[in-house]
Amino acid sequence: MTINKNVSLKPFNTFGIDTIAASFCDITSVEDLKAVLKENHSSPLFILGGGSNMLLTQDVNALVLHINLKGIEVISETKNTVIVKAMAGENWHDFVLWCLDQNYGGIENLSLIPGNIGTAPIQNIGAYGIELKDVFVSCEAINISDQTSKKFTKSDCSFGYRESIFKQDLKGQYIITSINLELTKVNHKLRVDYGAIKTELEASNIHNPTIKDISNVVIAIRQRKLPDPKYIGNSGSFFKNPIISATQFSKLQDNFPEAPCYKISDTEIKVPAGWLIEKAGFKGKRFKDYGVHDQQALVLVNYGHAKGNDIYELAKLIQKTVKRLFNISIETEVNII
Ligand code: EPU
Repeated sequence: MTINKNVSLKPFNTFGIDTIAASFCDITSVEDLKAVLKENHSSPLFILGGGSNMLLTQDVNALVLHINLKGIEVISETKNTVIVKAMAGENWHDFVLWCLDQNYGGIENLSLIPGNIGTAPIQNIGAYGIELKDVFVSCEAINISDQTSKKFTKSDCSFGYRESIFKQDLKGQYIITSINLELTKVNHKLRVDYGAIKTELEASNIHNPTIKDISNVVIAIRQRKLPDPKYIGNSGSFFKNPIISATQFSKLQDNFPEAPCYKISDTEIKVPAGWLIEKAGFKGKRFKDYGVHDQQALVLVNYGHAKGNDIYELAKLIQKTVKRLFNISIETEVNII
């Protein structure tokens, strides 16, 4: 296990922002993780997973621990279901493809979400009507201060929309090392009712879709709407969709009868931030090397050599404008470092 000094973080964040880590250690085993935590207990630490949900606005004056733990295994199975364990450093989408190859169902709607396994529970990743919590059984994590292992069950994690206990009460206290998911082997519960999945399947003349068909459709939709970080730096949705009261939504509808929404409850409505940002005139706007994606206004992009701070200033301008025009606050989903 080597600790390197002054390492560029550009290859380690999907925004492709070039800032420097004071020191950097690639972690490939849980034992190494515990040892490095023990040896460096007084140093500031920065835990890095897939780097797909952060915007670096400055150099990281800390020891960066790059969680690169690998491995996927079946823990147990019944006639109909299987419990699969995946280590934190596995790429999420590669894991989805592995599950599809085994014909394990439950996460096909979550195809092509950037990032690694270890960060998936932190923000309870979700797309097309499914969230990680729907298949989540438990995760293992290491307590940073005393290096003990702890198992968190689904209820321990307090999952919500892009939320979990790891972003709230336990923020910065644990490093997730693996997750266990319960997936189906037969009688897959397909979710085709969300977004464009159904129309896309119909257009492809698929009437009895398999989990692989659904994954392919989700991949096609995402590739059309979301920029690939390999070519254009981005962190997926930069903002969360705001949840407002039904009363406030009906006021919005007075001015914008076409406003899209998802009903959360009788009193709460989720409004797509992408729609608000588009209405505010930002969709496709480019400022030098950064801007707002032209297919999905929820996504901010780095076209080349943007500075994290430029993108952060743009994000603040968007938040201010949306607040002024609609009286709705939109929060960032991405972590600003
Ligand atoms: N919309 C616009 N303009 C835009 C973008 C969206 O008017 O530029 C409208 C669409 O017309 C649609 C509505 O907003 O009526 C919703 O759009 P979409 O289905 O693309 O979903 P979203 O709410 O923008 C959420 C997730 C995505 C996830 C999709 C599909 C959040 C913050 N984002 O986006 O997650 O892929 O649903 O389930 O909840 C991510 O977290 O990185 C991510 C991409």
